[in-house]
Amino acid sequence: DTNLLDIYCEEVMETMDEKRNRILFVGLSCLDMVYVCNHFPEEDSDQRAVYNAWRRGGNASNNSTALMQLLKWKSCHDYEVEFFGTIAHDFPSDFLIKDFNENGIKIENIVRYEESQCPASTVIINAENGSRTIVHFNKNLPELKCESFSKLCFNKYKAIHFEGLRNVSEIRKMIAYVRQKDLKREIKISVELERAVDSLKDLLNDDIDIFFVEREFAKLMNYNTLEETINGIAERVQPNALVICPWGESGAQAIDNTDKRIHSSPAFTPKTGVQDTLGAGDTFLSATLFGLYALNYGLKEAIVLGCQVAGAKCGALGFQHLH
Ligand code: ADP
Ligand code: FRU
Repeated sequence: DTNLLDIYCEEVMETMDEKRNRILFVGLSCLDMVYVCNHFPEEDSDQRAVYNAWRRGGNASNNSTALMQLLKWKSCHDYEVEFFGTIAHDFPSDFLIKDFNENGIKIENIVRYEESQCPASTVIINAENGSRTIVHFNKNLPELKCESFSKLCFNKYKAIHFEGLRNVSEIRKMIAYVRQKDLKREIKISVELERAVDSLKDLLNDDIDIFFVEREFAKLMNYNTLEETINGIAERVQPNALVICPWGESGAQAIDNTDKRIHSSPAFTPKTGVQDTLGAGDTFLSATLFGLYALNYGLKEAIVLGCQVAGAKCGALGFQHLH
């Protein structure tokens, strides 16, 4: 009986003391069609780009890429990185899978949808200042359900990060599920609140260790400055949480709710000038987690590393030159 076998396997796995060395990113992977232009196009004009590439994008997918680069950089070979999300079954999706594999990112648990189309973004990078303008479209790829998430084998994970997407009620169920499974609280949970989506506010009430809060979401909460955001969010979340806010060219701040100390880091302007800011926030997030989890850094050191690595990312195209 498959059901009984599943239950048996689950029990055996839970009693096994596996090494918790895997960091999981839950969220989106999409196709980014990137064009670098000498200047931002006029509406209804026709200009030639100076560079074009297909990249594997999506926040959780970019987080995995950046973290993997950093683990390789510091020879942290004990760690593994996994991406978990939904993936369609078409030509661009094959490109994403190939790229995950080439980067050594685990994807054995992804949920495939035969009839769906791969979500895609057209990204225009302005070579004058590295700004990235994104037009994103998801025709019909469903978001992840807690039912799929609950099938993961949780004793592998050191940490699980959730990208705050539109499936907030499912994400909340996933977080509650981890807490219920992981009674010894060995798994760290982090979440990214990036977009101005009302339902994301619900996550502020949840049992989450680290909140990454970005400017668009801060605006939705009516916070106008970095200071207002840090203090306002810290008051709303649980008393042991860390709140971390990347703030573009102003760098980042973070607060540890246990002692209420606020830490700051400037941004680090790349020597080559700002070439490509696509995924700067995703890189900051991964480098900060890398500092906290793999290097045992304190909060201040971790956000400084986050800003240094994100700055290096802005100085070159893509994610291959993070240090
Ligand atoms: P997003 O990609 O989500 O818009 P942000 O703009 O908040 O992310 O940037 C994330 C981090 O990237 C910042 O904290 C900063 O350290 C770095 N960063 C962003 N823009 C620049 C820039 N122009 N120069 C140097 N660092 C930058
Ligand atoms: C960058 C990014 C892109 C993707 C878009 C989705 O943070 O993840 O790679 O196209 O955002 O909103």
